[in-house]
Amino acid sequence: MSIAQTIEFEQRGDHLGWLVALEGERNVPFPVKRTYYIYGTLPGARRGRHAHHTLRQLMVCLSGSCKVLLDDGQSREEILLSRNTQGLLLDPMVWHEMYEFSEGCVLLVLADNWYDEADYIRNYDAFKAACR
Ligand code: TYD
Repeated sequence: MSIAQTIEFEQRGDHLGWLVALEGERNVPFPVKRTYYIYGTLPGARRGRHAHHTLRQLMVCLSGSCKVLLDDGQSREEILLSRNTQGLLLDPMVWHEMYEFSEGCVLLVLADNWYDEADYIRNYDAFKAACR
């Protein structure tokens, strides 16, 4: 079983161009309370490097590509995000790191709650201990 589920979004549009619609509690399986985007990442940088106690998130790479390392405390998995019709669901208690960002990569993230630093686990050893 994989650590994170991926969702394929329907691509809409016509000969003029394309559109993907994301709707909370419809094709996004939680109520969306916050949206943020990650861009302008320096070459070689690793972002994320944390887990959340309760937050659910969905990542979509809108432009370019990046890799995501997922770690549930027992196993690890690497996913390449390179299509804006694919969403990666991040459950609570999954350590994630984003890296190998292509030039101009824009990563959209939808979350089921507001930003709360207290929900973060930023220390890997503390994450491993919390998994036990
Ligand atoms: P951080 O979690 O360190 O992101 P990354 O590892 O991807 O670079 O967040 C960067 C900064 O942005 C940090 O000061 C926290 C702040 N932040 C918010 O204010 N709101 C948010 O929704 C998020 C995700 C981060």
